[in-house]
Amino acid sequence: MKKVLTIFGTRPEAIKMAMLCRKLSETEGIDHKVCVTAQHRQMLDQVLDFFEIRPDFDLDIMKAGQDLTDITCEVLKGLRELFKSYRPDMILVHGDTTTCMAASLAAFYAGIKIGHVEAGLRTGNLQSPFPEEANRVLVSKLADLNFSATEINRQNLLSEGINPEKIIVTGNTVIDSLLFAKNKINSFSKDMTDLLVRIIFENHHPHIILVTGHRRENFGDGFINICRALKKVAQKHPEVEIVYPVHLNPKVQKPVNKVLNGIPNVHLIKPLSYPDFVFAMKQSFFLLTDSGGIQEEAPGLGKPVLVMRDTTERPEAVGAGTAKLVGADFDKIRNGIERLLTDENEYNTMAKAHNPYGDGKAVGRIIDKLVRDYLNDR
Ligand code: UD1
Ligand code: UDP
Repeated sequence: MKKVLTIFGTRPEAIKMAMLCRKLSETEGIDHKVCVTAQHRQMLDQVLDFFEIRPDFDLDIMKAGQDLTDITCEVLKGLRELFKSYRPDMILVHGDTTTCMAASLAAFYAGIKIGHVEAGLRTGNLQSPFPEEANRVLVSKLADLNFSATEINRQNLLSEGINPEKIIVTGNTVIDSLLFAKNKINSFSKDMTDLLVRIIFENHHPHIILVTGHRRENFGDGFINICRALKKVAQKHPEVEIVYPVHLNPKVQKPVNKVLNGIPNVHLIKPLSYPDFVFAMKQSFFLLTDSGGIQEEAPGLGKPVLVMRDTTERPEAVGAGTAKLVGADFDKIRNGIERLLTDENEYNTMAKAHNPYGDGKAVGRIIDKLVRDYLNDR
């Protein structure tokens, strides 16, 4: 029996690896275990609870004010020790976080094979997103198997000289999770304690803008610009309700609370559990975000997304017209929101539901490939 260890540490990795973990645990011929680094603690645990995943190993590394060196060193050291007592045949990692990069390096040092899920996303700019672009380029060099979400992602890997036999296009596991969650929920869970926000959503308020943001390259002036633009929109449009579950990073919490606290139609709330966030997306008018995962989920739900970044590694949604880049720029954000609020044609063009990121069967394709071509050593 081959031993496979899935390693992840943050909220988005957990969401995107959850269905794979659930199915791998039921797959014959594979002894599957889960290790969380807990680069995120509360936001990770929310996801584990919903998908009922109990990690076999927990490195519990998160500390307030952690920097990239802290995360990298803690993951490297934690996995070095773990691999002494539990040595998998292969690890599975996801995406472009520092957990993903450091876990891959730890496995490489220990001579353990690496499978990389969501491989091949690229902006071509090492500074944006920072440090994620560098993380994913490094992991692609180390990985033995690359599970790419789209054909564009596969082409990116090929153009970097990655062996085509090591790449398979599977669709994005984010859709597998989204469909699972969508089918399970029709309202907010009991965790949703903010009564006012609950009332706004449940009464199908027509103009809810759902906002998230956390990117390092937007820290400082970027977040100030974003919040000033939101303040202007809220003041000009009292009919609009801006709902903003604020990321727990103090570098996000501080500017957001400073600029936006106390505005009656801006609701700053704690990060929502994944099912509550999916419900909120379904009920919203459109989204404003710098998140990666939300750029993939929103098209599947037929919701326009304004992306607060200058570049994106997810050109599929932009190409299809669902997503638009507005940067962390005061005027572009304000104008983008204004247009979606007032121009019905623009809204309808962007709101067409389609799914460039998958059909909800990515997990099955990943497991087939693992079992057929790899874990049987063929
Ligand atoms: C990380 C990832 C980023 C991913 C994002 C998803 C890296 C370098 N960054 O960025 O790629 O898109 O997660 O959200 O890997 N915090 C808490 N509780 C939590 C989570 C975070 O208190 O549950 C606070 C802590 O103070 C922590 C800080 O947020 O130190 C920053 O977390 P960190 O993982 O370093 O960075 P993110 O911006 O979350
Ligand atoms: N999400 C959530 N609760 C929230 C905000 C987002 O569960 O309050 C989910 C969202 O559905 C998506 C993921 O978190 O699947 C995105 O995570 P994040 O923006 O932190 O990271 P990124 O995708 O940018 O790496």
